This record gives sequence, C-alpha cells and structure tokens, in this order.
Amino acid sequence: MTTTAKQRPTLSTTTGAAHARIWGVGGYRPERVVTNDEICENIDSSDQWIRERSGIITRRQAAPAETVVDMASAAALEALKAAGLTASQIDTVIVATVTHPYQTPGAAPMVADRIGATPAAAFDISAACAGYCHGIALANDMVRCGSSQYVLVVGVEKLSDFTDKTDRGSAFIFGDGAGAAIVGPSDFPGISPTVWGSDGSKWETISQRNSWIEVRDHNVEWPAITMAGQSVFRWAVYSMAPIAQAALDRAGIKADDLDVFIPHQANMRIIDALIKQLKLPEHITVARDIADTGNTSAASIPLATQRMLDSGEAPHGGLALQIAFGAGLVYAAQVIVLP
Ligand code: UT7
Repeated sequence: MTTTAKQRPTLSTTTGAAHARIWGVGGYRPERVVTNDEICENIDSSDQWIRERSGIITRRQAAPAETVVDMASAAALEALKAAGLTASQIDTVIVATVTHPYQTPGAAPMVADRIGATPAAAFDISAACAGYCHGIALANDMVRCGSSQYVLVVGVEKLSDFTDKTDRGSAFIFGDGAGAAIVGPSDFPGISPTVWGSDGSKWETISQRNSWIEVRDHNVEWPAITMAGQSVFRWAVYSMAPIAQAALDRAGIKADDLDVFIPHQANMRIIDALIKQLKLPEHITVARDIADTGNTSAASIPLATQRMLDSGEAPHGGLALQIAFGAGLVYAAQVIVLP
C-alpha cells in the first residue's frame, strides 16, 4: 500500500540585501617580534637565506598565554569600530583558523561571547590559509540570501603552537596574528563571485605531522604543521595565477581596473611570480605584509588589508583582488571594494 503526503504548506523563506560589501576591517599583531637570527638558533639557516627565499625579515609571536580567541576578539573589535557597528548588530560570527587548540567547541562561539555578539550564530571553518576568503564568500552569500544582515569574518592563527622550531622547512615561515572584516548589506556590488576549489589529492603537502589518534596511540611527537615547500611553491605559482585571472573575469573587470592586489602572504617570491603571470600594471599597489608579519595563514589577507588602508597605501572604496591558497589543498579568490 502506498501513502501520499498530506497537503504540504509552503515554507517561508528569506530575501536578503541586493548586494553585500565589507564595512570595516581590523587587525591584531602580537607584541613580540621574532627575528630571523632567533629562528636560526634552532635551525641550520641564516638571516640572508630566509630573506632571499621567503622575503621574511621578522614575524610576530603571541605570548604563551595569548589564545586564538584573544587575538580574534581584538581584531573583531577593531573591525566593528571601523564599520561603525556594535557587536549586538552581528548575526553570525565565522572564525577561520587551523590553530584553535580544541577539537571542539569551535573558537567562534567564544569570540561571539567575548565581544558581546551573543546569540549570534557562530562556527569555525577549516580552510587553512584560504579560510578568510572562504569566509568572505560565505558571508557575501548569507547577506544576499537573508540568513544574516551583518557577518563578522575572522582569520586568526597561533601558528607558533603548531610549528616545529627545529624543522628547517617551516620554522622560519609562520607567524601569529588575527584579521577581521564585517560584511553587511550594500546598494552596490561590493564582493564579486568567488572562484574557489580544492585538490585533496595533494593533502599531504601541507599537513599536521600526525593525527590526534596517532598521538594518542603511538606516542608520536607533537603534530606540528609541516610542508613540502617546493611542491606547494610550484602549485601556488602555476595554478593560482589562472584562478586569480578567473576571479577578475567573474568580477567583470580587467587587471588594469584594480587599485590593489592582496595575495595570501605565503612567500614574497610567490607574490612576485603571481604579479608577473597576471601581468599586473605597475600602478597597482601590492600587499607585502609578509616582510615583518610572516605567513599568518588565515590572518594574512585581512592583516595586510588593514595595514594598507591605515597607511593610505590602499584607497578606501578602491578595488582589490584577493587570493588565498593553502592546506587541503584549497583556494579562493574574489574582487572586493575596499571599505
Ligand atoms: O601558506 C600556505 C602555503 N605555503 C606556501 O605557499 C609556501 C610555499 N613554499 C615556500 O615558500 C618555499 O618552498 C620555502 C620558502 C618554504 C622554501 O624555499 P625553496 O626555495 O622552495 O627551498 P627548497 O626547499 O627548494 O630548498 C632549496 C635549498 C636546498 O639546498 P640544496 O639542495 O639546493 O643544496 C635546501 O636544503 O635550500 C636548502 N634549505 C635551506 N637552507 C637554509 C631548505 N631550507 C633551508 C633553510 N635554510 N631554512
């Protein structure tokens, strides 16, 4: 015998804003500056090699007691101030991080509570260095579909907790910090369609060394993040330029229309190679925050954005292409109107 559903009522749905934009950005850089010479106390390397191969001169390191939630909250409060909003206006908090040291709960509910955004929806996303651009993509869609009016997106990392100080391939590259943006309604398109994707076949090229199960059952070393640097370098240089170009195409603009290029701060040589491959005109200002911030993974793009806006290097209301890539491997790129 078959049964048929009873007359089904139509569900109500939401309608969002016509467009979304970034209302404000904020950043937090820990106080302690770590030089290349200090890094070289634990690895066979030199200040000159690190500068030449990565472009990094110094990076910041969080204090031992300073947490991902502390740094994220500081950046979030700055972003709120820049946006001219209060925490109670935030409907959703998205925290992009791979260094919150709790498997559960996520950092986002704690950040929401800390800044006074409760009962905002709050969740973490794990998209490594591309986490912030994934968050901006989600926030854009949420505002436009009506599930949120204002979304706080934070990229935050305390990589010093997950870096092996004696690993020559990664010890010099990572830094700590947090960057945040508020996405809200707009009467013009302020965030272009995102071009994003993944290649999980390359997951081992950047990964924590051991799974938590291996740590528990086999007494292996702390699961620091390690990287097959050269493979990731090649992938970033050759595969990410077409993604950046695709983001420009999806935005309906040409490279010449850009004011600023804000790539993930992974390595100065990757930044230079992307500029060359994209044939970026010289008038475009390029983020080079990596020199004294290091590679802060999910925090790198919002930190660079905040610095460029604050210093006047990037014009308020200008167009910026941002592209991020990292562990997964995953990537995301979009054009934004700077707040
Ligand atoms: O943020 C997420 C995505 N991450 C990235 O995009 C990072 C991508 N990778 C990189 O940025 C670069 O691969 C690194 C900066 C990590 C390394 O630079 P590289 O130019 O790719 O170095 P390499 O691994 O090809 O090594 C070149 C040489 C080797 O020596 P030989 O074989 O040429 O004699 C290494 O043994 O440099 C040596 N080397 C070092 N020397 C001094 C490797 N690491 C070091 C070191 N200090 N720390």
